[in-house]
Amino acid sequence: MIIAIDGPAASGKGTLGKRLAHHYGYRHLDTGVIYRAVAYALMKAGADLRDEPAAVTAAQELDPEKFGDPVLKTQKVGEAASVVSALPRVREALVNFQRQFAADPPGAVLDGRDIGTVICPDADVKIFVVADPKVRARRRTLEARARGEDADEAAVLADILQRDERDRNRSVAPLKPAPDAYLLDNSQLDIEGGVRAAIDIIEAVRAGRQRG
Ligand code: DC
Repeated sequence: MIIAIDGPAASGKGTLGKRLAHHYGYRHLDTGVIYRAVAYALMKAGADLRDEPAAVTAAQELDPEKFGDPVLKTQKVGEAASVVSALPRVREALVNFQRQFAADPPGAVLDGRDIGTVICPDADVKIFVVADPKVRARRRTLEARARGEDADEAAVLADILQRDERDRNRSVAPLKPAPDAYLLDNSQLDIEGGVRAAIDIIEAVRAGRQRG
């Protein structure tokens, strides 16, 4: 089974994806990390984030072993990833890696922006996670502070709104729910509540399939 979790920045889709993968015994890919890794490679090389050939090369040379580097989680790299991910050839260069990950047994949970629409349009279950931007900013600020980073909530909110705008309005693979995605608004839910709501959706889809 392939489970696609999409949604905007700081909506909690990454944590949800990880928890669902654990629950079902599937592998998990946080696809945001891929774009973050490409952006970070450019930053380190001092290259322009809009330098498409350099970004494509970085995408082709990605090393999944480095996806756990904590620097990739920082706000600065996230902002850079939003710029890099708008480059069509960069997205193209990363499609096969993601599809291969999804296809390998026993099943996979992928979270990102375009999993249900572009990467895995035939995913068994698609969930689009949303939450009030102010709630997302609050959560992201608390997370950053817990990591020992300086975080100003108003600046985090501004960053989230700017990234939403860029991710929604880019010409390739814009952030939007697939027509057959289930919306999950977790503004009022904690992590456990979000996980339960997602499992309810997945189980309802499975039960419906078995009956049909
Ligand atoms: O989910 P995240 O904050 O780690 O994502 C960082 C950026 O990467 C985000 O602003 C847009 C981009 N991204 C994307 O374009 N497609 C994906 N599937 C995942 C992330």
